[in-house]
Amino acid sequence: MKITKAVIPAAGLGTRMLPISKSVPKEMLPIDAKPAMQYLIEEAAESGITDVLIITAVGKECIEKHFTACPQYEKKLLESGKEELYEEIRSINDLANIYYLHQHETGGLGQAVRMAKNFVKDEPFAVIYGDDLVVSEKPATLQLCEVYEKYGKSVAGVKRVSKDLIGKYCSLKVDDIGNGVYGVSDMIEKPKPEEILSDLAILGRVVLEPAIFDILDRIPRGVGGELQLTDAMAVMARESGMFAYEFEGTRYDIGNKLSYLMANVECAVNNQEYGDEFKKYLREFVKNMK
Ligand code: UTP
Repeated sequence: MKITKAVIPAAGLGTRMLPISKSVPKEMLPIDAKPAMQYLIEEAAESGITDVLIITAVGKECIEKHFTACPQYEKKLLESGKEELYEEIRSINDLANIYYLHQHETGGLGQAVRMAKNFVKDEPFAVIYGDDLVVSEKPATLQLCEVYEKYGKSVAGVKRVSKDLIGKYCSLKVDDIGNGVYGVSDMIEKPKPEEILSDLAILGRVVLEPAIFDILDRIPRGVGGELQLTDAMAVMARESGMFAYEFEGTRYDIGNKLSYLMANVECAVNNQEYGDEFKKYLREFVKNMK
């Protein structure tokens, strides 16, 4: 079955990005003059997604504003003969049908995804974590959708994470099937060292079967008193099995200051207009760096 719906949870407080997240949602932070959320919606569109639900919160109204037509800009750009920029700005409105739901209380990623039940209905869907950017040849969501189409079960996007860091993520119990695909039989959120199941952790993208909603309805809150999506996926893995795919691409955590800076460097280097000039500057900068 083709996947055409995606959910982007973006209602978190973003405390790791304070002070900027006090006034600018981390999901809207600029990465080379484009808000992070635009990269995510572009990735969704390039992956065949036609309908996107963004889980948002009070204070994040600029997300909706960015994906709404802005006649003043469009008129001005046309009048001043900037047709290319006009097309670029206009095309933002046509990337996908975008819907919004407000999460009134930040109760965790699981709670945010649970809100998508009526939007998703009985179809498999993608979850694109609102603060995770993946720079890749093939869109990361498309990579997972293709694995879903082949195996017909939920697929988590995974990467290898060092022992020191995996405690901040989750850890998966897996069987290697080959070509980057794993069968998953269990997983644990924020494992203690003795609980680590493997060095594979879910980073930023999953494709889920709608059965996840019944599981989210019946599991208790987990780590941090929040409803954890990982806990629901762990139940799914144990009860009916799921898959993981080690996707190609570099993943950046926009909710982390250092990773956010790194994302900007890679995207600026890749920029078609001034990437080469930026590289020249970077080389000179690194040469003179103490
Ligand atoms: P994070 O756990 O990284 O976001 O959630 P956070 O809670 O904002 O982070 P810190 O620790 O305070 O800095 C991953 C994604 O899920 C969304 C976030 O907005 C982020 O894009 N999220 C998180 C929700 O939509 N609702 C929630 O209740 C929690």
